[in-house]
Amino acid sequence: AKADPLKIMISGAPASGKGTQCELITKKYGLVHIAAGNLLRAEIASGSENGKRAKEYMEKGQLVPNEIVVMMVKERLLLPDSQENGWLLDGYPRSLLQATALKEFGFQPDLFILLEVNEEILVERVVGRRLDPVTGKIYHLKYSPPETEEIAARLTQRFDDTEEKVKLRLQTHHQNVEAVLLMYEDITLKVNGNVPKEDVFAQIDGALTKLHEDRKLI
Ligand code: AP5
Repeated sequence: AKADPLKIMISGAPASGKGTQCELITKKYGLVHIAAGNLLRAEIASGSENGKRAKEYMEKGQLVPNEIVVMMVKERLLLPDSQENGWLLDGYPRSLLQATALKEFGFQPDLFILLEVNEEILVERVVGRRLDPVTGKIYHLKYSPPETEEIAARLTQRFDDTEEKVKLRLQTHHQNVEAVLLMYEDITLKVNGNVPKEDVFAQIDGALTKLHEDRKLI
């Protein structure tokens, strides 16, 4: 276990590249990736009552009620792997209440990464996104095409990845984002997310390397 593992949050509009950057960050820094959307999709796949309720909101591009999301994220953060290796929280908090709850539970991040992407780019990213159900890897038909024919043949699409649904998700994002940003203003790193994924990662990597060095972890 590391002495004082990093605790990072990553935020941004739908399809701004959060999941993609989390793949790159965890690969280099070994943090535990906790994505609220992935936890919710796993809950749906399990067939539970909470999953069924969550899906109704996700299909409308709205926030899933806090009584489902807050405890789900808290429990994941408390598991030993997150505590020992540090965590990378993706897609949470999305409202002032979620941010306040997290603070009350004693979870304070070291850095809040905000991916900034122009809106016309977001729609194109959503519509072209594909997922590999075997590895969980995120692809894009144009920007990150699958490496082999075999992978290409098994790619799936998310149920909320249509142009119509992403516009609803974007509306929800705009309604809630300001309150969350204010809460983490002093530890926010604004990142230009319009550029290729390697260039986005270079900006994040610079900040994380510095945080690591400050703690003399490397
Ligand atoms: P969630 O799953 O979190 O969806 P989201 O916020 O809409 O974000 P995405 O996962 O769509 O995008 P991303 O930013 O991870 O982008 P990605 O890296 O895949 O949430 C889904 C729903 O769950 C919500 O609508 C809500 O209902 C519910 N929910 C979730 N959290 C909640 C919470 N806290 N409270 C209540 N409800 C909650 O990239 C997108 C595409 O672009 C990919 O194809 C990728 O290959 C490509 N790409 C990425 N980066 C680049 C780049 N730099 N250049 C070119 N292409 C790129």
